Amino acid sequence: MTNFFEEKRPAAILKHAILDNYIGPFAGKTGLYSPGNRVAFIDGYAGEGRYESGDEGSPCLLMRHARRLAAMRRPRQLECFFVEDDPQVFAKLQQVVASEGAGLQIALAQGKAAAQLPSLLSQVAGLPALVFLDPFGLMVPFETAVMPFMARPAGYGTPPTETLINFNASTLRRIAGHLTSPKAFESTLVRMDEVFGSADWRDIWLQHAPAGSTQAQREAAETAVVTEYSRRLAKAAGSGFWYTEVFNRAGNRPVYYLVFLTRHKDGMSSFAEALSLGLERWREALHKIENADSLFGDDSAFKASEDALAEAWVDEIEANLRKQLALGQPFRVVDHYMQVLGEAFGQAREKHLRKAWKRLHADGTTLVDSSGKDLFTKTIAPA
Ligand SMILES: C[S@@+](CC[C@H](N)C(=O)[O-])C[C@H]1O[C@@H](n2cnc3c(N)ncnc32)[C@H](O)[C@@H]1O
Repeated sequence: MTNFFEEKRPAAILKHAILDNYIGPFAGKTGLYSPGNRVAFIDGYAGEGRYESGDEGSPCLLMRHARRLAAMRRPRQLECFFVEDDPQVFAKLQQVVASEGAGLQIALAQGKAAAQLPSLLSQVAGLPALVFLDPFGLMVPFETAVMPFMARPAGYGTPPTETLINFNASTLRRIAGHLTSPKAFESTLVRMDEVFGSADWRDIWLQHAPAGSTQAQREAAETAVVTEYSRRLAKAAGSGFWYTEVFNRAGNRPVYYLVFLTRHKDGMSSFAEALSLGLERWREALHKIENADSLFGDDSAFKASEDALAEAWVDEIEANLRKQLALGQPFRVVDHYMQVLGEAFGQAREKHLRKAWKRLHADGTTLVDSSGKDLFTKTIAPA
């Protein structure tokens, strides 16, 4: 078996690209009014820090951002808390932090995330906090996943709390196989109950994929379980949720889902932007991998396929904006996100919305121009 930390697979490229694009906006926005412009990031399943190939793991990625944010004209202090259970992995993480973390606020803890979180959460009380729970195979128990929200206040004026959770799709598929197997292990099924927060996932799965189910039925069952899991987490957390599939190859089944929870609308739109940018970087990485030995692996082929995708998203958003404007009322896209994004949901970002909006302004459908920041929260009105 190869070591997880030898080299980065595309699914990890996507996860890190999303983080890479999210930490800046998160620290920028939430650290604007926080005490001392401090912002906390808890990486509950931190890993070695850096892959043997030299690529960044989440701790190195965070340290890079912490350094960049500290050097900005309006600095933010990103304080990192890394938890790792495996003593050998932890020793490597310590070395990486010793060599790359000088001058940064970093705390290391060896042990299990569930045991470490209560004390870490009390250390970051009063600060905006983003908690990343990224185990492999084994999944995060429901109680641990909601802990950051339970431990921190909600409501106006409270520091933002967000979590990003890795929900392992292959583990779900493997355990769900026990539901219809004559050789099922109850103890295996119970592990999934702990993750889901109850045994209800079993019925949800079986409703969609009874014994003898087709591949399409099992895919529907997986989507239903992940959606219900995210919905229940968000309900317990008093937050909104968004989840995205993470793949090793386009067209494959997802390796895992990243479930994002936030109590703030801004968090949701910043995450959507980071996801769109992350997906673009992931498609580029896949293009390079798939064309590594080919003459056609040049940048122009990648650019052409990206342009075609973007054009389709802009067309989609334009058509949906027209439909929404035809109802005759002014509105903010953020309040009709799904209707406006339509097929481009989870893919497109602000620049695609701006392009579609520009077309409507150009032909007089709206007199509101597409300028300004935060276009998702700007009100568009029919002419
Ligand atoms: C997928 S890796 C983490 C990768 C890292 N977050 C990244 O993005 O580079 C999961 C890590 O969690 C560690 N781990 C497993 N169970 C844990 C637990 N209960 N608490 C903390 N760490 C744990 C494993 O040893 C492993 O290093």
